[in-house]
Amino acid sequence: MHVLLTAGPTYEPLDPVRFLGNRSTGKMGYALAEAFAAQGAEVTLVSGPSHLPDPASPRIRTVRVETAAEMFAATAAVADEADVWVFAAAVADYRPAHVAVDKIKKSGETLTLELVKNVDIAATLSQRKRAEQFAVGFALETTNELAHAQDKLRRKNFDLIVLNSLRDAGAGFGHDTNKVTVLDAAGQIVNFELQSKADVARGLVSLILARLAPSS
Ligand code: CTP
Repeated sequence: MHVLLTAGPTYEPLDPVRFLGNRSTGKMGYALAEAFAAQGAEVTLVSGPSHLPDPASPRIRTVRVETAAEMFAATAAVADEADVWVFAAAVADYRPAHVAVDKIKKSGETLTLELVKNVDIAATLSQRKRAEQFAVGFALETTNELAHAQDKLRRKNFDLIVLNSLRDAGAGFGHDTNKVTVLDAAGQIVNFELQSKADVARGLVSLILARLAPSS
C-alpha cells in the first residue's frame, strides 16, 4: 500500500527575508507517516517547513517543500499511484500577490499587503480521485465544528475527516497531545480521547485500514 501524506505549514514568501506562515509543527503528519510505515505501508511524506527530522523508516520518503504551490506539485506528482491520501498540512490559503526582489523597507505608518488565493491541494486532487482511492482530510474549526467539518468532507470528496479541537487544553498546534473527532460521509463519528499524537496517529491508521479492508 502506498500512502501520500501532506504535513506541516507552508511558507509564502513576501521578500527575500520574510514570509507568511502558520504555527503548524508537522507533528501530527509525521506521527501518521510513522504509524502507516509501522503497518507496512510505503509512505510519501510531503512536508512544509518543519523542524522535525526526516522520519528514519526506510519506508518513508520525505519530500521537503516550502510553498503551497510546491506542495501541490510534489503531491500531484504521486497522487495517481497512491492508494490513500492524507491531507494533514496546514496549507496557507493565500500568498502575497507580489514577492519583492529586495527587502521591503519600512516607510509609512501602515502597510497593506495584497494576497491571492493558493491552490486548494485536497479539493483539486479530489476531482481526480478514483473509486478505490481513499482520502482523509483535517479540519480545524472554532464554531459549529461538526457542521463545518461535514461540509468540508463533502466539498473536498474526503472519505473521512479528522476534526481538531481547539477548545481543549493540550490539543492542536505545537502540543505533543491531540484530541480529535473523526467523521465519515454517513455522519458516523468516532471520538478519540486526549492522548499523545503518536497514539492518535496509531488509532487513525487502524481506523483507515479497517475502512479500506472491506473493499480489498
Ligand atoms: N487543504 C489543502 N490545500 C489548501 C487548504 C487546505 O490541501 N490550500 C486541506 C488541508 O490539508 C485539510 C483540509 O484541506 O485537510 C481542510 O483545510 P481548511 O483550510 O480547514 O479548509 P478550507 O476549505 O480552507 O476552509 P476554511 O474556510 O475553514 O479555511
